[in-house]
Amino acid sequence: MTTIDAVVLISGRGSNLAALLAAADAGELGARIVGVIANRPGAAGLQTAAARGIATDVVDHRRFAERALFDAALAEAIDVFAPRLVILAGFMRILGEAFVEHYQGRLLNIHPSLLPAFPGLDTHRRALDAGVRLHGCTVHFVTPTLDHGPVIIQAAVPVLDDDDEATLAARVLAQEHRIYPLAVRWFAEGRLRLDDGRVRLAATQRGDSALIAPAIDER
Ligand code: GRF
Repeated sequence: MTTIDAVVLISGRGSNLAALLAAADAGELGARIVGVIANRPGAAGLQTAAARGIATDVVDHRRFAERALFDAALAEAIDVFAPRLVILAGFMRILGEAFVEHYQGRLLNIHPSLLPAFPGLDTHRRALDAGVRLHGCTVHFVTPTLDHGPVIIQAAVPVLDDDDEATLAARVLAQEHRIYPLAVRWFAEGRLRLDDGRVRLAATQRGDSALIAPAIDER
């Protein structure tokens, strides 16, 4: 398999980064993570990367008076690696239009909801408040609108009666760690195509499965 170079942007914990690295180790990512960049010096994921000998950088948003200046510095730091793909993995800054356009078609994000439901923050609490029975996560191409853009893959999980934010978040996160490496691999393999703003995936797709919630054990 040919591999592409990818840069991952993080703000914190970096569990999605860790999942991507694990997939790379298993030879299942189709991409080499050549750099990890954080907007916070204390982002724990930086240590995950450094421990593996991956180049890291910090572009601290607090050093920039204007968003556009931060975006430009971030793009400069990314382009040092000349990546084919830029992966937002828990990157908590809004990126401006010029930045997004610079990486158009090669900038991915993961969001912890079934978009277009619950863009923005506190998705798990909002899903609980709304009383939905299905929640989940979405990998999408980034467009200038926040948490918006052509959807590549989604995973749905049931919301259980006794869920709280933490239990629901954990169930969703486990699925994030499954679907993000898959999306990156499809991109690396050239199987994703944008057709009039809609994602087309060159893969056999099954239409015979559904996640129904609540699924009741009727014994
Ligand atoms: C994930 O839930 C991701 O979907 C969201 O922020 C969280 C980041 O977690 N955008 P981690 O840093 O990957 O552990």
